Amino acid sequence: QAVYFNGRWIAPEEANISAFDRGFLFGDGVYEVIPAFNRRLFGAGAHLDRLTRSLDQIDIQDPLTRAQWMDVLVRLVSECGADDVSIYIQVTRGATAKRDHAYPNPPLPPTVLASASAIVPLSAEIFTKGAKAITVPDLRWGRCDIKSVNLLPNIMARQQAVAAGAVEAIMVREGIALEGAASNLFAVIDDELLTAPLGPHILGGVTRNRLVDMVKDQGQIPLLEVPIPFDRLFDATEVFMTSSTRDLLPITRINAHPVGTGKVGPIWTKLSKAFTKLKQ
Ligand code: PDD
Repeated sequence: QAVYFNGRWIAPEEANISAFDRGFLFGDGVYEVIPAFNRRLFGAGAHLDRLTRSLDQIDIQDPLTRAQWMDVLVRLVSECGADDVSIYIQVTRGATAKRDHAYPNPPLPPTVLASASAIVPLSAEIFTKGAKAITVPDLRWGRCDIKSVNLLPNIMARQQAVAAGAVEAIMVREGIALEGAASNLFAVIDDELLTAPLGPHILGGVTRNRLVDMVKDQGQIPLLEVPIPFDRLFDATEVFMTSSTRDLLPITRINAHPVGTGKVGPIWTKLSKAFTKLKQ
C-alpha cells in the first residue's frame, strides 16, 4: 500500500528521509494516530484539530489544508485493506545540513508522512478479565499536551510495563497519577469517575474527551476532571485507560494490588458498550 510522503503517493520502501532531517537529529516534530473502524474514520476532525494545535505550538506551518488531510486519510483507509485501521501522521521541521538548535530561517518545507496499518486487537481475555498496569515516575517534559515525537520516557515506561507483564504504565508526577505511556487514565473512587484535567502534564486524548462528553451527556455517573492522588488510586473500585487504538482498557491490577474486586467493573462494562455504539 502506498504512503503519503511530502505531497506524493509512493511505496513505503521509497519513503526515505534525509539523515539531516530535524525530526531525526532533534526529534523536532509532532505526530498523530487516527483510527478508522469498519473502514470509517473515527474522530478525524478532533485528531486533525490536535495536529494543527501541536504544529502551531512548535511554530511549524500546517503543510496541508483540512480538506487535503481528509483526502489523505480517506485514501489511506480505503487502500489499507483492513476493517480497523490506524493512521500515523508525522510532520517535522524539515532537513538542512547545518545543525543548529534554533529554527532555520527562512523555514524549510516540513517533512510529511502519513501511512496506515491494521489495528491489531488486544487479546479478548483482556476485555473479560482486565489487565495489569504498573506505576512509574513521570520523567517527561512540561508540555505533554503537545504530541511530540520525543517519546523516550514513554517508551521506557511502556517497556518497563511489558517487562512486568503489564499492558500499560501509569505516569506519576509529584504524587499525582496522570495518564499512561500512550493512554489517558480514569478511576472510579467513591462512586465518582475521575480523570486528570486537561493541562500541560497530559495529552488531551481524543478518546478521553469523547468519553467525558458522553458521560456528561448521559448524566448518570458523576464525572470529575480533577488530579488523582497516587495513593487514592489504590482506593479505586475500577480503573481503565483510553486511547484511539485500544478504546477503554480495563485495569484490574496495579503493581501488586487488585483494583476493587480484581474483576472488570460495572461502570467500565457500561461505558465500554456505549462507546462501542458511538463507533458504529
Ligand atoms: N497515543 N496520552 C498519551 C501520552 C498518548 O500518547 C495517547 C495516544 C493518549 C490517548 O490519546 P487518544 O485518545 O487521542 O489516542 C494519551 C497514541 C495512540 C500513540 O502514541 O500511539
